[in-house]
Amino acid sequence: MKNKKYTVTAALPYANGPIHIGHLAGVYLPADVFVRYLRRKNKDVIFICGSDEHGVPITIQAKKENTTPKKIVNKYHSMIKNCFTNFGIHFDNYSRTSTEIHHKISTSFFNKLWKKGKIFSKTSEQYYDNKARQFLPDRYIFGRCPHCQNKEAYGDQCENCGTSLSPEELIGARSTISGSYPILKKTKHWYLPLNEYQNFLEKWILTHHKKDWKINVYGQAKSWLNKGLQPRAITRDLNWGVPVIPTPPSEKEKKVLYVWFEAPIGYISSTIEWAKRKKIDWKPYWKDKNTKLIQFIGKDNIVFHCIIFPVILKAYNGGYILPDQVRANEFLNLENEKISTSRNWAVWVHEYLEDFPNQQDTLRYILISNMPDKKDNNFNWKDFQRKNNNELVSILGNFVNRSITLIQKYNNGIIPNPGILSIKDKEILKKIKKTPENISDLIESYRFREALICFMDLARIGNKYLTKEEPWKMKDPQTNKRLKTILYVSLQIVGMLAQLAEPFLPKTSKKLLEMLRLKSYFWNQIENVEEILCPGHLLGKSILLFNKITNENVKKQLQKLEKIKKI
Ligand code: MF3
Ligand code: ZN
Repeated sequence: MKNKKYTVTAALPYANGPIHIGHLAGVYLPADVFVRYLRRKNKDVIFICGSDEHGVPITIQAKKENTTPKKIVNKYHSMIKNCFTNFGIHFDNYSRTSTEIHHKISTSFFNKLWKKGKIFSKTSEQYYDNKARQFLPDRYIFGRCPHCQNKEAYGDQCENCGTSLSPEELIGARSTISGSYPILKKTKHWYLPLNEYQNFLEKWILTHHKKDWKINVYGQAKSWLNKGLQPRAITRDLNWGVPVIPTPPSEKEKKVLYVWFEAPIGYISSTIEWAKRKKIDWKPYWKDKNTKLIQFIGKDNIVFHCIIFPVILKAYNGGYILPDQVRANEFLNLENEKISTSRNWAVWVHEYLEDFPNQQDTLRYILISNMPDKKDNNFNWKDFQRKNNNELVSILGNFVNRSITLIQKYNNGIIPNPGILSIKDKEILKKIKKTPENISDLIESYRFREALICFMDLARIGNKYLTKEEPWKMKDPQTNKRLKTILYVSLQIVGMLAQLAEPFLPKTSKKLLEMLRLKSYFWNQIENVEEILCPGHLLGKSILLFNKITNENVKKQLQKLEKIKKI
């Protein structure tokens, strides 16, 4: 059988601000672990992302910073891109939706749908700010929430009670631009008739993906379907976005594509950009029936990926595959409070990297351990310190360090021939062999937290083994056969840890492989390798794996948060 391809995408972050730990834990880290795993399995996989540079979040930020949308996206695109690179989220392509190619592709989607009669236009009345002379996107309207009476609910959502709203539902709707009461004015827009795809989606989601989609994703998609789908406008009266070309001659105002129409097409244009650079064909990654499309997104993006994007692809009828999996996590809180960009209640990745240089793996470890996969989870600095010091330093780091030091001291850094194996030794060797398969199963079912526990269990076993056997107390260490056996067994564990660490702790894995003077295997091979480190193999120099996080470090971070609380 042909080697199946995987197209893995991570939601395109809005280029309206930097990335924080909530983004990492929710979307980018699970995607990165998954992709690294697939690579270790020698799969043909591409990992695609880019900045989402259009839509109201950008124009709102531009107003806030008193600058232009263009300047905003340039600033945050490079910031986000650097952040991913420095943190070690490794995309095959990180694009942006302001590229020429994206404008071309998304426009061609719109135009083909229009030509083929798959979308329709309609004139309706919408809120217009007479003072600011512009139509008001939902986010530019505020008023009283009909459900909880919050006075500052937005036209699309009340942030107090979480209900989705439409602008007409607000009581006493006003413009956020001028504060004035908007009037209703006629405007023409283009609509995607989602209702015509109700049956198709029901069949595809409700029968096909009931079992394999995560409950939160499936549930949200189902509840949309249960309500009955309505046509959705895919153009906007804004001057920031992908212009609708050709503009119909009768239209005076500029129209742009609705950001949720064009941004998901960004996954495709980013892939095309990548393929051009690599001089290969992009189509197998999007049009081959055997290719798996796996999308990692935030939970507020579910409807767009499960309903709107699939309908766009289906209506376009260009042979595109539909997502095989849409994965969304719950939210990560910070010190038991909701992360909030506007309040600055967040741990920003670029600031973390400044405060803890070269400690990317520590944050990866904590965020995977606390991944909000089933329910909201919490990040707190004390726990960060505890997990780093008690698990990474005291278990993984300590075990590796003890093993290497012992072998250098008692066997010149060379893997010894083992003597007679005890029951315990045999049990451990068997466990080592089983671990790759166990971790594979967990990662393939997206249970990253448990996969990491399984990995750490191996280090735990090794650590306990050394503590119990106490090889450093043995007599005649240079010739003691039992001592050699213990060193042999310990180093097999270290060898396997080096191999398996990569998806979770890529930097650590690299250090380990270097220390062991070992190449990395594809995971399918390790299962067949009899010994990861053969007798006679000479190890390299010991490298420090993890640093302790001090009370001082934690205090500094907590003080930073205290200051924010006081504002
Ligand atoms: N920018 C959106 C967000 O941050 C996600 C866009 S995903 C895409 O919530 F599919 F539109 F690309
Ligand atoms: Zn409300």
